[in-house]
Amino acid sequence: MLLRHPFLTILALLAVPTRVLSRKGGDSSSSDSESDTSSSGGSSGSSDPGDSEDTSSSTSTSSGGLHCSDTHRLDFDDLQPPHYYQYNRAPRRGHASAYSDWDGVFFKGEASLKYTIITPPNNLTEGDIASSSLITCPFGTQSTRMLGAAWVGAKAPTPAGPVNPFTLGFKAWESNVRVSDIDYSYSVCEDLDLVQLTTTVDWYNGGSIEKAMDAVALNITQAAGNSNKILFDGVYDLKDWADSERNSIQAAEYDNSGLRGQMISLPDSLCSEGRKLGKILIGWPTGTHINGSMTNETLELNFSGLTVAGFEHGSPFPDTDTKVNVTFEFTFTGSFDAANSSQVVLPGASSHNTSLISFERATGSATVASLSLHCVLMSLLVSLGVMVV
Ligand SMILES: *[C@@H]1O[C@H](CO)[C@@H](O)[C@H](O)[C@H]1NC(C)=O
Ligand SMILES: *[C@@H]1O[C@H](CO)[C@@H](O)[C@H](O)[C@H]1NC(C)=O
Ligand SMILES: *[C@@H]1O[C@H](CO)[C@@H](O)[C@H](O)[C@H]1NC(C)=O
Ligand SMILES: *[C@@H]1O[C@H](CO)[C@@H](O)[C@H](O)[C@H]1NC(C)=O
Ligand SMILES: *[C@@H]1O[C@H](CO)[C@@H](O)[C@H](O)[C@H]1NC(C)=O
Ligand SMILES: *[C@@H]1O[C@H](CO)[C@@H](O)[C@H](O)[C@H]1NC(C)=O
Ligand SMILES: *[C@@H]1O[C@H](CO)[C@@H](O)[C@H](O)[C@H]1NC(C)=O
Ligand SMILES: *[C@@H]1O[C@H](CO)[C@@H](O)[C@H](O)[C@H]1NC(C)=O
Repeated sequence: MLLRHPFLTILALLAVPTRVLSRKGGDSSSSDSESDTSSSGGSSGSSDPGDSEDTSSSTSTSSGGLHCSDTHRLDFDDLQPPHYYQYNRAPRRGHASAYSDWDGVFFKGEASLKYTIITPPNNLTEGDIASSSLITCPFGTQSTRMLGAAWVGAKAPTPAGPVNPFTLGFKAWESNVRVSDIDYSYSVCEDLDLVQLTTTVDWYNGGSIEKAMDAVALNITQAAGNSNKILFDGVYDLKDWADSERNSIQAAEYDNSGLRGQMISLPDSLCSEGRKLGKILIGWPTGTHINGSMTNETLELNFSGLTVAGFEHGSPFPDTDTKVNVTFEFTFTGSFDAANSSQVVLPGASSHNTSLISFERATGSATVASLSLHCVLMSLLVSLGVMVV
């Protein structure tokens, strides 16, 4: 069983283009969560000033234009708030197996998004009297099956601000692929994610991260009947943040003071108004209820809320001022991804910590084996890269 994975890894790594390779070194762009939501994935490497390897490899391949080769490999790069970069990615640069107390753990699994769209009343008018739009959307409660990936890591020492003892990052995308095939079901080139959330967000000043804050202050409690399980619960609220300077990349595109790296949206072409409309941009409305549970093996998440939402526009989708009301309910159940996690999480009483969570270095042989193989491959590839350059 172990043999099969390394073999696939080698094959896959050999087939991966340089942009993706450099990400696998663990030193990916820290600003991905803000910049990658635009579909031109090829540009993200150079947007990170701290990432010389990534920049050099992507410039050497993209002779003249941006192109993105897709391997459909799952990518964890945009799950963390950028302020973790200095703790768990920068130290790893060129040392794939380096360990950090802030590596955190990954979970992968299946998700479901249920939503109801309520359109404004259609006014049939005559002549040149202004009318409200004639919009059509799916009627009643709709359901979308998704795959998702989550990262949970200990609170970083800096910047000041967050209170939650851990940060959770999450993304999900529409898919019919089996969970067992999740590693090869993603697209780094397409703008796939419909759900993206980090429970802590970064606050910029003069272009650099000044502080961070919890977008969701979590109330963490011990689950009854299982000393290794916690429940957590909170309400999404960025009101205090709304007036701060934003990362220059993130326009105030969403209502509800949303951020580009923080979104829940519905697929494009669901609604039409003469022509098909783009994605419905829900953002994370203040008041969204977020709860879940976590053991060292399973992460469960539930999000629910309602808002008035607009549409993403831009080719081929027309601009529109029409808004629709949306209620949504999202659930995710993920399993601990031992192969990709250098840590294990100890939630609840097993943490031996009043914060009800702690993280330890993983000792499982599978992790060590795959990490060291990864390391060997990386150094091999890095030297190949050097030879080519
Ligand atoms: C949409 O929600 C807003 C705010 O809650 C409400 O005022 C409005 O009546 C709703 N529109 C429809 C069509 O339900
Ligand atoms: C559209 O219809 C609603 C009620 O059906 C009415 O309140 C509103 O004024 C109408 N709008 C226009 C532009 O006619
Ligand atoms: C308990 O958790 C907090 C926050 O995660 C951490 O700062 C502290 O070091 C932990 N204490 C112990 C004894 O592990
Ligand atoms: C935290 O959760 C517990 C258990 O659900 C509840 O009793 C308590 O009121 C909550 N505290 C806050 C501040 O929401
Ligand atoms: C999440 O929602 C599901 C379905 O509504 C429910 O069964 C489950 O208990 C919820 N989980 C938590 C942690 O509240
Ligand atoms: C999770 O915790 C249980 C109980 O301590 C333990 O038996 C199991 O091996 C742990 N699993 C992982 C993946 O660490
Ligand atoms: C968590 O939220 C879901 C809906 O999002 C709700 O059905 C469930 O009852 C909530 N669980 C708790 C423990 O509050
Ligand atoms: C997770 O581990 C598997 C097996 O080692 C590897 O093929 C895959 O690329 C890793 N995924 C990520 C996102 O690093």
